[in-house]
Amino acid sequence: MANPSLLILAGDGIGPEVMDEVKKVIGWFGDKRGLEFDVSEDLVGGCAYDAHGTPLTDATMEKAQQVDAVLLGAVGGPKYDDLDFSVKPERGLLRLRKEMDLYANLRPAQCFDALADFSSLKRDVVAGLDIMIIRELTSGVYFGEPRGIHTEGNERVGINTQRYTESEIARVARSAFELARKRSNKVCSMEKANVMESGVLWRQVVTEVHEREYPDVELSHMYADAGAMQLCRWPKQFDVIVTDNLFGDLLSDAAAMLTGSLGMLPSASLGAPMANGRPKALYEPVHGSAPDIAGQGKANPIACVLSFAMALRYSFDKGDEATRLEDAVNTVLADGYRTPDLLGEEGKDPVTTKQMGDAIVAALDASL
Ligand code: IPM
Ligand code: MG
Repeated sequence: MANPSLLILAGDGIGPEVMDEVKKVIGWFGDKRGLEFDVSEDLVGGCAYDAHGTPLTDATMEKAQQVDAVLLGAVGGPKYDDLDFSVKPERGLLRLRKEMDLYANLRPAQCFDALADFSSLKRDVVAGLDIMIIRELTSGVYFGEPRGIHTEGNERVGINTQRYTESEIARVARSAFELARKRSNKVCSMEKANVMESGVLWRQVVTEVHEREYPDVELSHMYADAGAMQLCRWPKQFDVIVTDNLFGDLLSDAAAMLTGSLGMLPSASLGAPMANGRPKALYEPVHGSAPDIAGQGKANPIACVLSFAMALRYSFDKGDEATRLEDAVNTVLADGYRTPDLLGEEGKDPVTTKQMGDAIVAALDASL
């Protein structure tokens, strides 16, 4: 049988340097675990714009549709701030999400024990935290029409539209309920049904899907602003949170900080199953391109490494190997390896991006 295929889109800023460490890890699984991947690489974001005048070429889009999984680093940077909206680096990522129809974005927020004192919240609030935010990723205000900036009378008006169809809500709700069944069987759905019609519909549809198909799962609803507050107050009350595209963007950054650093968190964006039964999938860190530290060896590669672990679990059915990789990350953290973002007040010497990657590979070796 052919090897599973992986398309690597390292992107901009710290993307390429964190991806270099992931490539080591991918190589390790090939050499030591017989898990060979056919890896190809291409451009997305600002670097694609520099080379081709577009943040994602049709050829790259086509490749992404064909492979078993896409692994993405990060896109964007100040150099591209003044570009027209249609060719901004972010549009490349949004096009991938939209055209691959990756509607369920899984963003785990897990607190590694070695970092529990590093969170801005107290240890007992975050220690052992393990929640999963499922963000709808292909619709809502990110894509709704009409949108744009136009002039009315003598002033400019900026417009975006929040729009959700019933089927868009139902399919992401199903993803949440399915996942909850494999975890603690609890879903909290967040919207603002108190002020938005799209939120009213969201709540209705989630409730209907629940009653019809998943009555065994515990379901609660929360307004998204209250949800943000509860996430900071007592995050361990949650298991799976399901929410729309924009609220999910905000809530997942907030949840990330509970765990100590945005540099730790991976994500999986999943669509409908392909002919081979695997979901269409793109894996990427939650963090951005961090242009301020790019190229200096300061970036934390863990979020990107853990994104590959999610690929092993959700695309390649290798949950055991995913756990092996997550355990290796746990080990290096327990051994005190810290990139600058994980240092806080500890006063230790930081390791470089490359040293962190090497330490993870060494921990993988030790796991055999
Ligand atoms: C994210 C990012 C993206 C988003 C940007 C880079 C387009 O913030 O993945 O959370 O807003 O979705
Ligand atoms: Mg974001």
